[in-house]
Amino acid sequence: MKTSLFLGLSICLVGICSAHLCLLNPRQRGSLTGYNKAAADDCYLTTGECGGRMSDSNNMAFFKRGMNYTVVLQKNLDHHNSTDPGSFVVSLHHNTDISFYTRTLATIPDTDAPSLSLYTADIFIPSDLQLSESPVFVLEVVYNTNTIPIVFRQCADILVLA
Ligand SMILES: *[C@@H]1O[C@H](CO)[C@@H](O)[C@H](O)[C@H]1NC(C)=O
Ligand SMILES: *[C@@H]1O[C@H](CO)[C@@H](O)[C@H](O)[C@H]1NC(C)=O
Repeated sequence: MKTSLFLGLSICLVGICSAHLCLLNPRQRGSLTGYNKAAADDCYLTTGECGGRMSDSNNMAFFKRGMNYTVVLQKNLDHHNSTDPGSFVVSLHHNTDISFYTRTLATIPDTDAPSLSLYTADIFIPSDLQLSESPVFVLEVVYNTNTIPIVFRQCADILVLA
């Protein structure tokens, strides 16, 4: 634990700890600048729910209950651990209280694909989602690397229609 924490810190100190996961489709909250280069600042969100970015009601994709959708994410900076590969986890949360409703929609294993590689996940929007309170949901992707003790997060705000 101490060793891996030290490793994480030293990776950051040499300056390559500035970017890891981008969510392209649905588009991530907030800015999405410079993602064609590894270590883009907008792909390095690690703190708290949604990496600390506030919801963005001007930028919501429309979904329907019971539909299939392909999530496209980018491993902006590779941290693959070949002995214990991490994963990208796609989940759905209700926006009024992120801990109130959570469902995992897909888990994609990390691979040794290099930085900037795209990963896709085919998801199914549950047909039994309760929409009465609010149709606004949060689609979150979390990158667990198993290499450094940091979890990378991106969220997209989505509107789910009946
Ligand atoms: C969604 O995908 C599943 C399996 O991949 C398929 O059985 C189902 O018919 C699809 N639903 C729609 C609405 O396309
Ligand atoms: C990869 O995972 C293994 C098993 O969890 C761990 O012991 C090792 O330190 C990890 N490697 C790196 C480079 O973090």
